[in-house]
Amino acid sequence: MSTPVKERQQARVTKDRPLLELENIGKSYGNVNALRGVSLNVRAGEVTCVLGDNGAGKSTLIKIVSGLHDYTDGVMRLNGIERRFNSPRVAQAAGIATVYQDLALAPLMSVWRNFFLGNEIHKGLLRTLDIDTMKEIAGSELEKMGIVIPDLDRPVGSLSGGQRQCIAIARAIYFGAKVIILDEPTAALGVKQSGVVLKYIVKARDAGLGVIFITHNPHHAYLVGNHFIVLKLGRVVLDAHRDELTLDQLTGEMAGGQELAELSHELRTADPSKVVEPHTVEHGGVPAPELSQDEIVVAGTDAKEDA
Ligand SMILES: Nc1ncnc2c1ncn2[C@@H]1O[C@H](COP(=O)(O)OP(=O)(O)OP(=O)(O)O)[C@@H](O)[C@H]1O
Ligand SMILES: [Mg+2]
Repeated sequence: MSTPVKERQQARVTKDRPLLELENIGKSYGNVNALRGVSLNVRAGEVTCVLGDNGAGKSTLIKIVSGLHDYTDGVMRLNGIERRFNSPRVAQAAGIATVYQDLALAPLMSVWRNFFLGNEIHKGLLRTLDIDTMKEIAGSELEKMGIVIPDLDRPVGSLSGGQRQCIAIARAIYFGAKVIILDEPTAALGVKQSGVVLKYIVKARDAGLGVIFITHNPHHAYLVGNHFIVLKLGRVVLDAHRDELTLDQLTGEMAGGQELAELSHELRTADPSKVVEPHTVEHGGVPAPELSQDEIVVAGTDAKEDA
């Protein structure tokens, strides 16, 4: 009975088929519908960016793909085969690597230990750790990615956030991940460090992985993305390929152009005299009007600032 099902599933695997397919995925936490009817495809050798505001459902989505949560509706397929990962270990074994922003690596352990964490190489009858081999491989793999870390014995906690993300990406590639999920890898980084991480996202893509890049930042997404999904309150509100979308459109979709206009209108109607005109401050062209002590308003309280 199970053979025909398996054959049918295998038959769906074709060359052009996406690596990972989500079809009408839904997830409820009790009464909260965190995801509703979410469909998306992740292709090998492409960066699929998932954008969305706080609470949009981005983390829920990656938790489903990485085996932390089960979905309540829809179908998920990996290589054309329907999958339901019931633990992160099962997802990892199927080739899904997840790089969480803060939990990517163990901070007190050395670079090489982190690289091999959970996949250690042993030697001899006593199965002792083969430290030399692990150091050598970690060093050469990082070097291949252009990551130079002079001392592999250094604890990872002493490295910059960007370097840590890059080590986690190199590790995923080395251990044969098919899909790599990066959860807001640039959120806490400055411009330069973000640039380094974006470079390794491109390297993972060029190594043939399907990359899922979760971000709030449309500029970062547009620099490396092939495909863009915007989530809002658990639904897909935009699904477009790079050639169908400009950076301005993506930024507008993310910033919620309509909501910003409404907010601006509300602030204006509240009391126009107490609203600072953003352009007078931000663009430097027109100086902000000088306010006397009596006119200074503490945001949200309408109280006068103490002298
Ligand atoms: N374990 C949980 N139990 C109940 N509700 C949850 C749980 N996790 C998430 N939610 C709810 O599901 C919705 C989506 O949350 P999720 O964390 O996926 O959003 P997000 O897009 O990752 O947001 P952020 O940008 O803030 O990380 C939110 O309304 C959130 O409150
Ligand atoms: Mg989140």
